[in-house]
Amino acid sequence: MPKSEIKTEKDAKSKDDIMLKLEGLHLYYGESHVVHGIDLDLPAGNTTVILGRNGVGKTTLCRGIMGVLHNKHGKVSFEGEDISRLAPFKRARLGFGYCPQGRDIFANLTVYENLLVALEARRDGLLKVPEVVYELFPILKDFRQRKGGDLSGGQQQMLALGRAMVVDPKLLILDEPTEGIQPSIIMEIEDVIHRIKEEFGVALILVEQYLEFAWDIGDEFCIIAKGQVIERGNPKDVDMETIKEHLTV
Ligand SMILES: Nc1ncnc2c1ncn2[C@@H]1O[C@H](COP(=O)(O)OP(=O)(O)O)[C@@H](O)[C@H]1O
Ligand SMILES: [Mg+2]
Repeated sequence: MPKSEIKTEKDAKSKDDIMLKLEGLHLYYGESHVVHGIDLDLPAGNTTVILGRNGVGKTTLCRGIMGVLHNKHGKVSFEGEDISRLAPFKRARLGFGYCPQGRDIFANLTVYENLLVALEARRDGLLKVPEVVYELFPILKDFRQRKGGDLSGGQQQMLALGRAMVVDPKLLILDEPTEGIQPSIIMEIEDVIHRIKEEFGVALILVEQYLEFAWDIGDEFCIIAKGQVIERGNPKDVDMETIKEHLTV
């Protein structure tokens, strides 16, 4: 094989290697047009932070990327393939992990059962919850017989993240993972999200209100208003205070 065809891990993370591509994505709830033509290029292993005030369409965008909402116009590509018509469970098989806003864990299932449900989407047919999930969140092992609904908000978020890691994702969509969680646990969750990015090389779409964390982990930020990207760039090139002005009501 010529040397140029041998991909090193470093190459796989280069800017040219776009893993997720959105082109002119439009999303609707019935007649209500919420996302108006969003473009996005996410290289493997990189993090795009999505910012914006309440109700601008951040969650809707996440749903569109995961395929929970059908895109009427525009294109979603993953590793060069057009997946615009692919159902969510098939996207999960390709390596999409999704932590929805509000977490959506099964309150009546145990922690262990919540994790088992996600195994269905493994590409390799693994039948056992991978140890890495317990390594990232030891509490999920200790609490594996507890009902999901009996966990605290922070613990439920850990379960939602652990569940997303069960599929061995290449891309994680994290919709406000620190929302409504007590500060001591927020730091723990942020540390694990950093590890997921750095150690596991997972690309992230991160909707986040905490700019300090977003600025720390983001390779790119996009500010959304009325379903459109109104500003984007590299957090390192932009002053966080200027961005805050866009976000405060
Ligand atoms: N299931 C739904 N049906 C109809 N409209 C919705 C639904 N979910 C959200 N919306 C509307 O879509 C817009 C964007 O919502 P959302 O994507 O949740 O915003 P954000 O996550 O940025 O706060 C809002 O006007 C909201 O009321
Ligand atoms: Mg939202």
